[in-house]
Amino acid sequence: MRLNSPQINIITKACMKASRSLIRDYGEIENLQVSLKGPGDFVSSADKRTEKIIIEELQKAHPDYGIITEESGVINKSNTKNRWIIDPIDGTTNFLNGIPQFAISVGYEEENEIKCGVIFDPIKNELFSAEKGNGAYLNNSRIRVSNIKKLKDALLVTGGPRHSSKIKEKIFSEYVKISKSVLFPLRKFGSAALDIAYVACGRFDGCWQRELNYWDIAAGIIILKEAGGFIDFFGQNNESPLKKNIIASNSSIHDELKDLITK
Ligand code: IPD
Ligand code: CA
Ligand code: CA
Repeated sequence: MRLNSPQINIITKACMKASRSLIRDYGEIENLQVSLKGPGDFVSSADKRTEKIIIEELQKAHPDYGIITEESGVINKSNTKNRWIIDPIDGTTNFLNGIPQFAISVGYEEENEIKCGVIFDPIKNELFSAEKGNGAYLNNSRIRVSNIKKLKDALLVTGGPRHSSKIKEKIFSEYVKISKSVLFPLRKFGSAALDIAYVACGRFDGCWQRELNYWDIAAGIIILKEAGGFIDFFGQNNESPLKKNIIASNSSIHDELKDLITK
């Protein structure tokens, strides 16, 4: 059965509409790279423009729903039952540098559980979507995680750390430890939302990353689960307790990857 909840249709429509402006903005980046001011300010306005369109579309359908969004924070704070979780551009650094690996990510949460979500890569025209109980899709095709059985054979992706991260050294040593346990070099693609979506459709076998925000992963959580994958949280972030450390993978390598990271 193809996805059919009202929420998934609302999110998809919002993402498609916002993507038109995002693609236009992306087209401008090359010109801005040579400008004196640089593209930094422009990117933050592209972020805001995209977010505004998404919020407007979602609010047309449900003005009362809560919204957690990267640029504007929390809207309709008192509604914690129904919430949209939005990252207007995940992969901003790629966007800023004219690298076509970024996405819009929107999840829908009910009673603290993600029910459906969309991750849309507007450049490759790839729309990853899922809703609880109805499977996960890439455009119109059903997707599933890979069936690689052993961690050593897995193709893994990770991200970070940001230059300012207080646990940079820890992340580097984790990276070295994991890279010694797999045959293929680790990948870093720069968009956590797409990393998770790529695990969901079997391009990658697993992914782990520290210090992510809820909006980076909300849609990915349901897409991965519905594709037969697992997502787990590990460790504490003392400096920034709201951030999440994730392990996302197919079911076969999940324990092996988790043991390696957490022991
Ligand atoms: C970032 C990307 C990146 C991840 C960072 C995120 P942004 O989101 O997902 O892959 O490593 O931790 O903050 O800033 O591009 O929306
Ligand atoms: Ca993000
Ligand atoms: Ca973002």
